Order: sequence, then structure tokens, then C-alpha cells
Amino acid sequence: MSDEAKSRTVAESQSERSEIVFPSDSNALGFLFGGRLMQYIDLVGAMAASRHARSFTVTASMDHLDFLSPVRVGELLILKASVNRAYRTSMEVGVRVMVEDVVEQRLRHVSSAYLTFVAINREGVRQVVPQVVPETEHQKRRHEDAGRRREMRAGETQRKKEMRAALGEEWHV
Ligand SMILES: CC(C)(COP(=O)(O)OP(=O)(O)OC[C@H]1O[C@@H](n2cnc3c(N)ncnc32)[C@H](O)[C@@H]1OP(=O)(O)O)[C@@H](O)C(=O)NCCC(=O)NCCS
Repeated sequence: MSDEAKSRTVAESQSERSEIVFPSDSNALGFLFGGRLMQYIDLVGAMAASRHARSFTVTASMDHLDFLSPVRVGELLILKASVNRAYRTSMEVGVRVMVEDVVEQRLRHVSSAYLTFVAINREGVRQVVPQVVPETEHQKRRHEDAGRRREMRAGETQRKKEMRAALGEEWHV
């Protein structure tokens, strides 16, 4: 990583995606499947992380996923992703999902999630990522909150490592 790439602003990697909900994405009541929404969240989050790292990324975890209100067939989904904070090889990305009422010109907040992505190269080797420079008050608060979430996540990450070690080598590729 070159010197000028040691940090990047949040705006440099912010990503957005929009989707119309089709019947094939919904359950018998016409509501969007939670799993499909998770897929959209993962994809837009990966866009922001890869732009920030300028590298391939993999999803290490998704947490604090809230489904606040159901989404119906035909509604327009807007997903926005920002890199809240970067560490050595990982980044926390926040995704906010809204439904846009195109007639009334209103937005409804339907879901939020935090994901951690890890930067890797083509060989799967982890890559050091640039730090995040928060500029606005909002970004600075998210940067601070991300630090607290990382501390909370550390215990869970350790638990997963111990679980993998206990499974033995035959369960790993
Ligand atoms: C994510 C992955 C690369 C981490 O590998 P690992 O051997 O546990 O790596 P390390 O313990 O050295 O951790 C590397 C980084 O990931 C972070 N990390 C690892 N597991 C994590 C988790 N469950 N949640 C959040 N962060 C995690 C570590 O904190 C560390 O961050 P840092 O370098 O910024 O400090 C590995 O578990 C993996 O490849 N998982 C599969 C990913 C995948 O296939 N995703 C779905 C398809 S894209």
C-alpha cells in the first residue's frame, strides 16, 4: 500500500443499490424474504468495502441485523453502505435499507446491519487496508460506535476460533 493510500474518506467508498421487489422475492403474503434482503445487504456492503480497500473482500460476519418493517412486492428498495471503520485487514461496513415511496416522495427505514469484510488478494492472502477518515459529525459518531462493537465482537470471534479448532482438521479446506 502506498503512503497516500494509508487513509481514505468515507465518501470515497460509499455505495448505493436499488431494487424493485418482485413476486419471486417474496413469501405467500407478498412480503420480501429476509434472506433475499440479507443478500442485497451483503452485496452493497461488499461494494463499499472493496472500493475502500481497492481489493477483493470476503464477508467475515454480519451482525446487528434489524428488520424494522416488512417490505411488499412492488416497493422500491434503496440500500446505502458506508465503511465506518477500518482495522488491519478488516473493515466494519454499515448498511441502511429504506423503501422509497415514489408517489409521496418519502423514505421508510426498513432495515439496518453491520458487517465485517476482510480484504484478500487473488491467492486469498489477507491485505492491509487504508484507515477511514471520518469527516462529518455523523461519520465520527459511527467511527466511535464501530470501535465499541468491535470490542463486543471480539469475544464471539474467539468463540468461533475455538469451535473450529475443536472440529479438527478434516472440517477445514
Ligand atoms: C474471514 C476470514 C478471512 C478470517 O480469517 P482468520 O483466519 O480468522 O483471520 P484472523 O484471525 O487473522 O483475522 C483477520 C481479520 O478478520 C477479523 N475477523 C475474523 N473473524 C471475524 C468475525 N467473525 N467477525 C469480525 N471480524 C473477524 C479479525 O478481527 C482480523 O481483523 P484485523 O486484521 O483488521 O485485525 C476467514 O474466516 C474466512 O475466509 N472466512 C470465510 C469468508 C467467506 O467465505 N465469506 C462468505 C463468502 S464472501
